[in-house]
Amino acid sequence: MASNNAPGVGQDSRFDPNFTRHVIEATGPKTTPRMRKVMASLIQHVHDFARENEITIDEWMAAVDMMNWAGQMSNDKRNEGQLMCDVIGLESLVDEITFKMAAETDDSATASAILGPFFRHDHPILENESTIVHGVDDGEIAYMHGIVRDLKTKKPVQDAWIDVWQASTNGLYEQQDPDQVDLNLRGKFKTDQNGYYAFYCLRPTPYPIPYDGPAGKLLKLLDRHPYRPAHIHLIIQRDGYKPVTTQIFDSEDPYLGNDSVFAVKDSLVVEFKPLKDNPKAVRELEYDILLAPYEK
Ligand code: BEZ
Ligand code: FE
Repeated sequence: MASNNAPGVGQDSRFDPNFTRHVIEATGPKTTPRMRKVMASLIQHVHDFARENEITIDEWMAAVDMMNWAGQMSNDKRNEGQLMCDVIGLESLVDEITFKMAAETDDSATASAILGPFFRHDHPILENESTIVHGVDDGEIAYMHGIVRDLKTKKPVQDAWIDVWQASTNGLYEQQDPDQVDLNLRGKFKTDQNGYYAFYCLRPTPYPIPYDGPAGKLLKLLDRHPYRPAHIHLIIQRDGYKPVTTQIFDSEDPYLGNDSVFAVKDSLVVEFKPLKDNPKAVRELEYDILLAPYEK
């Protein structure tokens, strides 16, 4: 009688019962404790997965080919390995784990969301009240502003840096699109003495993640669409506070419930309200941010 419903698993497995232990025990004495723990667990899970699903050489080789294809497609503008992780929810899961571990005592701070593959480290430093939008004439301009506050004292936080980046109305980030000027739709703003920041951006629109590579092939094999709900990326940081990498999502977006990379959190859904008395924008987003101080 089989001791486990999964094929290839259990005491009477058809496969060598000592093989996985033998591989794990090959780890040498000079590895770090974290490496020993994580790799032993990974090897155990991957071997169990292969046995449970009776993975064949052809199936394994197809997966190796996908990984190699991802590597060959990746460069400083494209991170296909990260995309592959994103479509199986791994970046979002790791974000949740990291956030929960950091937030044991302060889970009402502004929530995090995945960084995604289109961040750049060289965002232009801009004055408050300026725009990040250049050469886009078919979008709705939004006036985004708010106050960064200390989670504990609720006092405004001066000199917090806010990195912002977003895709254009054609669904492309500037590094994907030769028709956009360098660093379009990106900026870095600093809060004033009242913790205030403000800038003009696009009301975001939904877009597909790149699907002409292995991540797209995987989506197709899984009968899934590549769309992300409309969002704006933010990183907020200030000495003495835990930095927050996040995204905010338009409450009216049809893909909120089925983001292709599973990044939406309820607390990050925001409303772009109609704006009447500002000639520079037709929408307004008021968005306050709560930063958790490091414990002293
Ligand atoms: C993004 O939000 O930019 C993104 C996240 C994951 C995969 C692709 C794009
Ligand atoms: Fe994005």
